[in-house]
Amino acid sequence: ISLKSYNTFGINAKARFFIEINSLQDLKEALQLDEYPNKFILSGGSNILITNDIDALVIHINLKGKEVLEENDTHVLLKVMAGENWHQMVLWTLDQNYGGLENMSLIPGNTGTAPIQNIGAYGVELKDNFVSCEAMHIETQTLKTFSKEDCQFGYRDSFFKNEGKGKYVITSVTFELSKSNHKKNTSYGAIDTELEKMGISDPTIKDISNAVIAIRQSKLPDPAVLGNSGSFFKNPIISLEDYTRFITLHPEAPSYKITDESYKIPAGWLIEQCGFKGKRFGDAGIHKNQALVLVNHGEATGLEILDLAYRIIKEVDKKFGINISPEVNIIK
Ligand code: EPU
Repeated sequence: ISLKSYNTFGINAKARFFIEINSLQDLKEALQLDEYPNKFILSGGSNILITNDIDALVIHINLKGKEVLEENDTHVLLKVMAGENWHQMVLWTLDQNYGGLENMSLIPGNTGTAPIQNIGAYGVELKDNFVSCEAMHIETQTLKTFSKEDCQFGYRDSFFKNEGKGKYVITSVTFELSKSNHKKNTSYGAIDTELEKMGISDPTIKDISNAVIAIRQSKLPDPAVLGNSGSFFKNPIISLEDYTRFITLHPEAPSYKITDESYKIPAGWLIEQCGFKGKRFGDAGIHKNQALVLVNHGEATGLEILDLAYRIIKEVDKKFGINISPEVNIIK
């Protein structure tokens, strides 16, 4: 079957075999199907670039459900099944007046894949509200609970991208959210400005979500209209020594101090400076409002997008001596 509608890049690759998972029992049985030695776990498909047909049994995670595990006057523990759409889930928590996820509104993908790369936006990361997740071990089909510590979260990084890679399927995620006295995070420049534009001085969590949605819609393409996987690259983190050399040559460049010894440079800026913003090579292109986002104008193949990515990496390295690397999971 074609996977075009199962990946937000809209790549028209095929799956040899395909199965949809609606329960933990389904998942267990699918993982035990010995006649298909190659298995590929597919969830929201919002952070992958498929470069070839997938010669495997594609296991599509569609586990649904939300459950309040515990609550008191101020907090709630919410368990969300992996196949719940992230943004719909965030909107639902805001409707319940549960605070914590509002800055991460409108991120594409499903809840179960959010921990893999510790998704984040506008000053908040998944780990800030994360309590634990459950995952099925692919080899033994046993369920294991991972604490926040077990997950080893970093910037767009976790255990599931390193030692745990390819070994587990996340089946649910548990969050701790606030019910009152919400801790609001609008320090990230653009949110404040957007709220001002909206004429709001004392924002509710719903207002913050609306501001984030407005900012994202102005910069980031809607995958339903233009295929993409959000930021294609990570923002590079460089040493103080490299930073000093870089900023002397390019004093106008934006940058963020991470520690005394390291700085983050927005890859979008580097890519724009290389002249790529808004460019199109066949159906593979760079978004006109945000150079960090690669787009599929229609019929681009995964390999065409990948070629463009390599070309960008090379140019950025040539011009700035900085190595940028993909954030998106490239499926070869
Ligand atoms: N910039 C440019 N040109 C561009 C794009 C950005 O000069 O084409 C400059 C901007 O002017 C700004 C800086 O780069 O000074 C940062 O831009 P922006 O605020 O748009 O954020 P980003 O660093 O490009 C990151 C995340 C996004 C997240 C935003 C907001 C990564 C890889 N990306 O992007 O996450 O929404 O911050 O918090 O960290 C994603 O991961 O898919 C994603 C969209």
